[in-house]
Amino acid sequence: MPKQVAVVPGDLAGQEVVPEAVRVLRALGLGYEFEEFEVGAGPLLRGEPAMSEATFQEIARADAILFGAIGDPRVPDVGYPAQVLLRMRFELDLYVNLRPARLYDDRLSPLRDPSRRGIDLVIVRENTEGLYVGMGGRFRRGTPEEVAVQEDLNTYRGVSRILEYAFGRARRRICMVDKSNAMAHAGGLWQDCWAHLRALHPDLEARHLYVDAAAMELVRDPTRFEVLVTGNLFGDILSDLTAALVGGMGLAPSANLNPETGKGLFEPVHGSAPDIAGKGVVDPLGAILSAGMMVEHLGDEEAAKRIEQAVIGAIRSGECTRDLGGSLSTREAGDAVLRRLGD
Ligand code: IPM
Ligand code: MN
Repeated sequence: MPKQVAVVPGDLAGQEVVPEAVRVLRALGLGYEFEEFEVGAGPLLRGEPAMSEATFQEIARADAILFGAIGDPRVPDVGYPAQVLLRMRFELDLYVNLRPARLYDDRLSPLRDPSRRGIDLVIVRENTEGLYVGMGGRFRRGTPEEVAVQEDLNTYRGVSRILEYAFGRARRRICMVDKSNAMAHAGGLWQDCWAHLRALHPDLEARHLYVDAAAMELVRDPTRFEVLVTGNLFGDILSDLTAALVGGMGLAPSANLNPETGKGLFEPVHGSAPDIAGKGVVDPLGAILSAGMMVEHLGDEEAAKRIEQAVIGAIRSGECTRDLGGSLSTREAGDAVLRRLGD
């Protein structure tokens, strides 16, 4: 049976970059079948749900989801991304969010010291719990006495499974990041699970950092990190930081996975980029590298390497969009990758 890929461009920049990723996938001749779904501001502004129930069910059945972005300034509801993207992460139980950061070309590093440029790390972000679950509420809304509560949910199962996954991925080093000095309940659970697992992996160099120190260390010497595992919110924040260490948001890919069911959603980290969307200048490489992660997840490791090599080739020859120092349009940057797939 050919693999079924649900293509979900979503909003704004997502609609510009996802077609480039699909072109790359088609050129590889992997025999995937693609079906495109409309979600986001389009249907919402027509008075329909941002993602209809039928659409969600069909997307959920696919072998993999190639996602663009969600967010449109015309939609005033701040809860709107949650209805789409977070719903897919939660309901498909995609508890692993992988956010790799590799420095493909020294010129993309913002760091002065050349010895700090061998960056090849991955953030393993817990993706189904923490402060993202939406528990809490607003009380006495709209009055000077208003109270807003946002709960940080951490379960033994949730914390241990993400740590186990991270330990399983690390070859030499693992770093766990929390804020257990200030948030002793949630942090305490992370610490207990961490202590248990690190005792089972004496071969790995295991380090713990509080999130504030981790932010500092990532800038001071990112080469000391291999696998960085953390909760949902800290992973969200630190992965923007690590993206900036290797060329910026335009280049950052991600995979949302459930290793047990095999379900996966693959998306560039950059989001819908309303400030630059619609001008043909959005960097397609984050989406193309996300497609590469998808291909690897679907078992085509060789093709995944070809995608990454083609991206590296395009970047090193300056055939890229302006965020990476080039002058190409989104489409031309996609062409530059396509041309190199055979290299
Ligand atoms: C991301 C985004 C999302 C998140 C938003 C759009 C809800 O910032 O994927 O990093 O916070 O997870
Ligand atoms: Mn984010």
